[in-house]
Amino acid sequence: MKNLLFIGLITLVMLLAGCGKGADSPKGFSLPKGNEQNGELVFNKYQCLACHTLEGYNDADLGKVFADPIPLGGTSAKVKTYAQLVTSIINPSHELAPRSHALVPVVDDNGQSKMTVFNDVMTVTEMIDVVAFLQPKYKVKPIQYTNYLQYQVP
Ligand code: HEC
Repeated sequence: MKNLLFIGLITLVMLLAGCGKGADSPKGFSLPKGNEQNGELVFNKYQCLACHTLEGYNDADLGKVFADPIPLGGTSAKVKTYAQLVTSIINPSHELAPRSHALVPVVDDNGQSKMTVFNDVMTVTEMIDVVAFLQPKYKVKPIQYTNYLQYQVP
């Protein structure tokens, strides 16, 4: 009987750990607040419009990679949370978003996203800013930014 209770308890603990508080959980993920205006510059600098469309933005001089570019923003996108938005930029192959673009070959032969990996060229500040720029274009819930006041000595 005691053994059974013990096993039950362990199972419960494991179940709770699975509820997003494990070491792999995104809980506690927090970036500093980005600068939207700078984010727009970053968006242009890295020529995101070569593969994407964004309402209100157009760069006719850019060579287009896809006949049917992937729209950014809006509500139909697969990106629903702040974490997904960040992930889709720094780890584009994590989840692929064929959506209505089922016919567009957005992955290469190895199943990797055709999105350019900017991790070795984009600074962290640029990444934070471009996310700040794109976030309002998605209807995603903003993250709770660090409340620095809590560290101030009264
Ligand atoms: C060479 C083409 C290419 C370039 C350049 C590119 N992307 Fe992408 N991006 C893709 C493809 C393909 C997808 C869809 C497949 C996927 O999720 O990886 C995508 C997906 C995304 C998504 C998720 C789309 C959604 O709403 O579900 C975001 C956000 C994004 N890209 C942001 C950017 C930003 C910001 C830049 C510029 C810094 C950029 N991309 C540059 C090809 C590109």
